[in-house]
Amino acid sequence: MFNIKIGYASPKNPIATAPMAGITDSRFAAKFRNAGLIVLGGYNLDGKTNEAARKEVVRGRNEFVSDDPMNFLEQELVASKDLTTIAVNVRAASLEPFVQAAHLAKKYGAILEINAHCRQPEMVELGAGEALLRDVPGLCEYIREIKKTGVVLSVKTRANVVNDVEVAKAIEKAGADIIHIDAMRPQGVDIGVIKRTRNSTDLFIIGNNSVVDFESAKEMFSHGADMVSLARGVLKDPGLINHLVAEISAIQSMTGWYNAPKHICGGGDLRALAFCCLPVKNCALHAALKQAGISAEDFMKLKMDFTRGTPLEPGNGTCFGSMAWCCKITKPCFLRDSALTSTGLSDVEYMRLKKKLSEYIMKKRRR
Ligand SMILES: Cc1cc2nc3c(=O)[nH]c(=O)nc-3n(C[C@H](O)[C@H](O)[C@H](O)COP(=O)(O)O)c2cc1C
Ligand code: SF4
Ligand code: SF4
Repeated sequence: MFNIKIGYASPKNPIATAPMAGITDSRFAAKFRNAGLIVLGGYNLDGKTNEAARKEVVRGRNEFVSDDPMNFLEQELVASKDLTTIAVNVRAASLEPFVQAAHLAKKYGAILEINAHCRQPEMVELGAGEALLRDVPGLCEYIREIKKTGVVLSVKTRANVVNDVEVAKAIEKAGADIIHIDAMRPQGVDIGVIKRTRNSTDLFIIGNNSVVDFESAKEMFSHGADMVSLARGVLKDPGLINHLVAEISAIQSMTGWYNAPKHICGGGDLRALAFCCLPVKNCALHAALKQAGISAEDFMKLKMDFTRGTPLEPGNGTCFGSMAWCCKITKPCFLRDSALTSTGLSDVEYMRLKKKLSEYIMKKRRR
């Protein structure tokens, strides 16, 4: 239904559980098989990170601790492999354990997730967790080496620690497939970090932080997230995953584009250029085009080239004479709806074409 594909991983829907050390293991996961993705862990892959985790346990934190970490990881992968798409969030103090874990993850069809997020001092001292964000060349070297195993690779980051766009671009260039962003900032969720990442990379984005209902999930989706993940929300209400899966499935069947952006003038990301008018007004479009490095003339040409000969080309009676320039299906408009009827285009087909148009425009943007 969602047609999500990240290498060999095909999550059945865009709702995920986020990792919580000491909590989200295979037993926990068994309760959430409806989720599109379950991120297990964080698991500690070597002696040093397990030792650090032991110290954390002494001061009251939950952690998964093991004397035989690779065996433990493999048992967890075996126990969870038939539930849904699985990712394993992992920490290590050097490259080699990540590579070993990548081989294991790939063997079981799972995603490997580098934890560049943990800020517990015992981990950071080892150069693990958030310390990786402060050493982007080192993180990228890890990514390049890990990707040689063929594993599908995610990097979990915490926003507003360093320059998020620079990190995202660097990890994309190094070969990561997914960025899992905890959009945290002191004043609450930083939805802008999702939008900036969408505008500057083609990474698969998992948006995370304070998703507690469908409204907060929709905020993430409409600013560029391909998937959302929940940690504390699931602890508080284990039924939330089923609820979100039902809601987003309804949106997908009604519109065909579950994470369609808000209009540019509503704060949407650059994918929303697909819904913009002819560039004839003094509006937010011009700043967006400038950011995308596309001139107004090229923008007109791009849209007309793409829509020529497609069912989006007609549009008698619409504002600009072609549905190339028409708004999102969720914006009520009897002019567009009557053009849709006379063209014989359903709402879902219209939005699917707009999605393709947005992909075409995004390929031409400056990054
Ligand atoms: C108890 C607990 C343990 C966590 N452990 C990890 C971890 O091991 N690895 C990780 O990347 N994030 C970890 N996180 C962060 C969550 O995955 C998530 O990024 C954060 O809680 C924000 O999302 P939320 O608002 O849905 O809780 C942990 C969070 C909590 C509450
Ligand atoms: S062109 Fe239209 S949709 Fe785009 S920003 Fe301007 S008013 Fe909004
Ligand atoms: S006709 Fe309706 S949908 Fe099309 S551009 Fe005008 S207001 Fe938007």
